[in-house]
Amino acid sequence: MSGIEIRNLSYRYPTGSEKVLHDINLTIESGKFYALVGVNGGGKTTLCNVIRGFIPHFFKGERNGEVLIDGKDVSDWDTSNLAQKVGFVFQNPFTQISGVKETVFDEIAFGLENLGVEVSEIKQRVQNIISLLGIEYIQHKNPNELSGGQKQRVALASIIVMEPDILIFDEPTSQLDPQGTEEIFKAIDIMKKKGKTIILVEHKIELIAEYADYIVVLQDGHIKRQGRTEDVLSKEDTQDFGVGLTQYTLLDLQMRKHNMNTDRIPITERDSVQIMKQWMELQGVRS
Ligand SMILES: Nc1ncnc2c1ncn2[C@@H]1O[C@H](COP(=O)(O)OP(=O)(O)OP(=O)(O)O)[C@@H](O)[C@H]1O
Ligand SMILES: [Mg+2]
Repeated sequence: MSGIEIRNLSYRYPTGSEKVLHDINLTIESGKFYALVGVNGGGKTTLCNVIRGFIPHFFKGERNGEVLIDGKDVSDWDTSNLAQKVGFVFQNPFTQISGVKETVFDEIAFGLENLGVEVSEIKQRVQNIISLLGIEYIQHKNPNELSGGQKQRVALASIIVMEPDILIFDEPTSQLDPQGTEEIFKAIDIMKKKGKTIILVEHKIELIAEYADYIVVLQDGHIKRQGRTEDVLSKEDTQDFGVGLTQYTLLDLQMRKHNMNTDRIPITERDSVQIMKQWMELQGVRS
């Protein structure tokens, strides 16, 4: 399985006059789940494109520093090997549908077909992903006739089915309702449990708090903060970088202002219930 090492990375687009990534240093451990967060225009999508090698293979500009996957810079990787190593789900699901397949099933099978995988294996793998994402009901539909949320699920399925070691998802739930979003997080979690390295750009902080191992905060092309999810999301000043905290953390921080000091700051519902219970017991409040 694969880790990523980014050293002193900076980047300027070919048409841009200024750098949009500055001095990025980041180690992405194999098999962990990283959430990439921050305000619009911070450089999240650009960083994803650097990691998957789209920059500099297809988008030139000026890239300095190193981006190593398995110890080799992405610029030295063969592009088709790199594409098998790193799967990428676009921010806009409409650009990911191939447009050449007539059914969702065939659309999801498309990448495997191109790799020359045996037909019986393709069928099996596509079926597995369809049931993992709960999209059996659209499998015979035309991909062009799907809703935004359905397209987003199909785009995700067509990448996951390829089983790359590294999976990058750029806002994969933007078109989805809360239930659909939660389902995607569960599917991503299953990929993590299979040992995949996950990089997710996402704004839904409650779900990040629950699922991500690490958080990287980008603003104006700089990493403003990085660390374990519970550390980054329990610091009040993380909000200074335009990143929201969860309601559980905000409540705890308010309580502290009234001298109600819990043992530690929760970031999830589960955390919060446990910490509050403890705190109430300490106060002698009986349930
Ligand atoms: N193709 C491009 N050519 C020139 N500049 C670009 C290009 N794509 C993005 N930029 C600039 O790079 C900066 C970072 O953009 P990027 O899309 O990486 O941010 P982001 O964090 O993904 O934002 P969002 O949350 O809106 O998706 C922005 O200032 C943007 O204007
Ligand atoms: Mg983006």
